[in-house]
Parts: sequence; C-alpha cells; structure tokens
Amino acid sequence: MLFCSSQPAYDISGKVVVLTGALGAIGRRLAVRLAERGARLALVDVSSSDSDGATSLCAELNSGSGQRVAAYLMADLRRGSDITRMLEWAAEEYGHAADILINNAGIASPATLYDDETFERLAAMLDVNLRAPIEATRVFVKHVQAAGRSGVVVHMASMGGLMPNRGGEVYGAAKAGLIHLTRASRFLAPQIRVCAVAPYYVRTPMVMNNPKLQNNPTVYPVLMLEVDQVCDAALHCIGDTRSAGRTYALIGGWTYARMWLYDVTTLHITLLAGLALLAAMVRRVIGLGP
Ligand SMILES: NC(=O)c1ccc[n+]([C@@H]2O[C@H](COP(=O)([O-])OP(=O)(O)OC[C@H]3O[C@@H](n4cnc5c(N)ncnc54)[C@H](O)[C@@H]3O)[C@@H](O)[C@H]2O)c1
Repeated sequence: MLFCSSQPAYDISGKVVVLTGALGAIGRRLAVRLAERGARLALVDVSSSDSDGATSLCAELNSGSGQRVAAYLMADLRRGSDITRMLEWAAEEYGHAADILINNAGIASPATLYDDETFERLAAMLDVNLRAPIEATRVFVKHVQAAGRSGVVVHMASMGGLMPNRGGEVYGAAKAGLIHLTRASRFLAPQIRVCAVAPYYVRTPMVMNNPKLQNNPTVYPVLMLEVDQVCDAALHCIGDTRSAGRTYALIGGWTYARMWLYDVTTLHITLLAGLALLAAMVRRVIGLGP
C-alpha cells in the first residue's frame, strides 16, 4: 500500500473506538487490527450478541490482550435512539467519551434502481449508509466537545461515491454524501478530525455474493482490494494528523488522499458566482437592472 504521507503521528493505543458494522467482513478484521494497536473497542452491529460470533470475537480480542479491550452492543443504526445509546454505552463501558468513531456499517442492494428496486430497500440503504453516519457523527461531536477531549471520525465511503456508475446509483449517492460531509466537516479540526476511506471493490461477501456485481465488467479482479488493505488505509487515516476533511481513495493497492475534486469545484463555483455578481453590477450601472 502506497501512502502519500509520512508515518502516522496520532497514537491509537489506549483510545476508545466505536466501530459500527463490527461483525462484517471489514469490521471484524479492523477490530483485530485496532486491538493489535492497543485500542479499546466498543463494537456495534445489528445482530444479537449470541449470533454472528459477537461473543467469540470479543473473547478472542480480550484473551489476546490479557485484559478487557472489547465489548459488543447490538444496535440498529436505522434508529436514532440506538445511535445515541451506542455512544452513551461506549462512554459507560470505558469511563469516558469515545475518542474515535468508525462509521463502517453499510449495505448494498441486490436490486437495480430503474428495474426492480423497492422504496423500503432504498430507505434502508439511505438510512444505514448516510443518515446513520451523519447522526452518529453529530452525537459523537457533542460528546467529545462536552468532555473537552479530541476525536477522530472515519467514514467508510466507497469508490462508488466518487465515480458514478450504473447499478450503484443510490449506494453511490449515499457514499458521495459521506465524502461531502467529510470535506464540509474540516472546520472541526484540530479538536475533531473527520476523514473517510473510499475503497474500490473489496474481496468480501458484499461483492462476491452480489449478483449485480458478478456480471459487472468494472469489477476487475486485478484491481480488487483485500480487506487488510482497507484496514491499512483506515488506520493510516486515523493516524495521519493532517487527515481532516480528506478522503483516502483506494484502488489496486494505491491510496490517494489529495483529491482536487472539491478544490476545482469550489473554484469553479466561486468564479461563476463572481462573474454573475459582476454582470449584475454592470447591468445596474448601465440602468438595465434593479
Ligand atoms: N466490500 C466492498 O467491496 C466495499 C467497497 C467499498 C466500501 N465498502 C464499505 O465498507 C463497509 C463494510 O463493508 P463489508 O464489505 O465489510 O460489508 P458487510 O456486509 O460484511 O458488513 C457490513 C456490516 O454492517 C452491519 N449493518 C448493516 N445494517 C446495519 C444496521 N441497520 N445497524 C447496524 N449494523 C448494520 C451488517 O450487519 C454487517 O455486519 C460498508 O460501509 C461498505 O459499504 C465495502
């Protein structure tokens, strides 16, 4: 994995991390990688603790470190009350407000928007992929500010949020929303850094079991990422003290954190606004406008 910056400066050791989607393919591995770095984990997913191996994951992490470094909460992030509870629970478990929030939970749809998609699936996709991370970030920022601490938020976005593609219209729109939110939240730094990771397709059940993607020629196996590469990027994004507002795009083992997309768009809009203002002034001077 190639990173554009030097060694991470922010130490994850001892930090309280809320990780959503912790029982998924990327979430599970990220939990292990964070624990190896000495983080204390508040793991969250929609399954009950008895199913999908939540109990065994916590046991594995706790036995590996010799102390209690992982706890699990079942929460449905489509519900605002569960999101509030998640952050309160993490603070109760570890004695202070969470230091790091990783909005990793996400869902894709097997259906096609203009063919067989349903209103219910659309609502779920927008709720889990966009509304929940926004709300979790909002509550996290309040907790961190009230406690006078500092914090880091990582959104698990997607290349689909940078590169519009047929078949991923709504998933991509939600992930684009996260990338936009990341950029727009730059002003919270240095107290709170909000950054994002936008991977290309990752070798996970979300991709391999999705009938829509199996026949998609853009899913080039040679560019497919491994889960550990996504974890590398997430850990780097947390550790890089310059990551506020940045999205780390991942493709074929490369990471690009400096994207000029927003700078160019902002310049473009500023120039257009300036020209419109100038035109209005000229019209007024020559007596053609109000
Ligand atoms: N797999 C890929 O190719 C890929 C590519 C780019 C981005 N991503 C993103 O990475 C993240 C993780 O993906 P993954 O491949 O590990 O997927 P996954 O399906 O294995 O894991 C997602 C987890 O989110 C949880 N979740 C879903 N709805 C929830 C809800 N309402 N409340 C709480 N938890 C809920 C699921 O139970 C699951 O454990 C997602 O946000 C995904 O969009 C994945």
